[in-house]
Amino acid sequence: MAFPATRMRRNRVDDFTRRLVRETCLTTDHLIWPIFVCDGQNQHSAIKAMPGVTRVSVDRLKDHLAEAVELGIPAIAIFPVTPEDLRDAMGREAENPDNLICRAAREIKKHYPNLGIIGDVALDPYTDHGHDGLISDDEVVNDATLEVLARQAVNQARAGIDIIAPSDMMDGRVGVIRRALDQEGFQNTRIMSYAAKYASAFYGPFREALQSGGRLKGDKKTYQMDPANTDEALREVALDLEEGADMVMVKPGMPYLDIIHRVRTAFKVPLFAYQVSGEYAMLANAFEAGLLDREKTILESLIAFRRAGCHGVLTYFAVEAARILQQQK
Ligand code: PBG
Repeated sequence: MAFPATRMRRNRVDDFTRRLVRETCLTTDHLIWPIFVCDGQNQHSAIKAMPGVTRVSVDRLKDHLAEAVELGIPAIAIFPVTPEDLRDAMGREAENPDNLICRAAREIKKHYPNLGIIGDVALDPYTDHGHDGLISDDEVVNDATLEVLARQAVNQARAGIDIIAPSDMMDGRVGVIRRALDQEGFQNTRIMSYAAKYASAFYGPFREALQSGGRLKGDKKTYQMDPANTDEALREVALDLEEGADMVMVKPGMPYLDIIHRVRTAFKVPLFAYQVSGEYAMLANAFEAGLLDREKTILESLIAFRRAGCHGVLTYFAVEAARILQQQK
């Protein structure tokens, strides 16, 4: 029935009707907070490209996470800034039970046993060449990398990491990691796979955060997906689910909302998106320049993920968003 019987604005007349007809919601339960952990004592350093984001040392994690826990953020994702001298061609530090991510996980579980911890599995924080896998004859090799990833995943599970998140995009890694975890008795360790991860320029600031930017030779196009593709994302998701992924992720986020929507429509499984460093940088720098309203834009950028079909979002705005949501109550 058309105008004037139908007036779309009627349901927008006041706040209570707008709330009644709202189709999606964003709550703190939908937020995952990625954090950067560095070596040393009492360290707290700013990341230039990501205003407001810092790297902190393990001893400062208790303070760093206090507000996130207080606000009820369900989980965090830890990214270690591996010291220069511990990076090598094989990424051996990834298997060290006392590496940064493992120390961070143990420290966090000591203070906040109910906070979920996600551990990224890929070799790039540990390799001197900056690639996610092993290199042989100038090629990032798939099958040899899988064995290292499996050991890396088990190492993280032993340190108390609850969710293993393979971000490397090697073929077959989810299955290999699942079997390795099960063999070691970690049947309950979940896998959130970066299933559709694109070779994106939006990861730029992240590489500054990890201090791995300069070292990367070439690009990641032989393993991360071509931004031009969408059907391929569905195949990637299907394979990861078959191999045992409990949750899947699309990454980056905002420029890939169409992929999120297609995945959600095709698979009724827990789906997450990563609002990556470059997306954060664009927004945070626009806020600093006074170009966008900070609170409204943060919430709008996050509800977009929910509308597209995500269960939750990894976002550097997680704590701030949770704070805004609490104030709105
Ligand atoms: C590592 C990894 C990357 C990100 C998460 N895990 C970078 C990359 O693949 O080059 C990016 C996160 C961000 O940009 O916020 N495999």
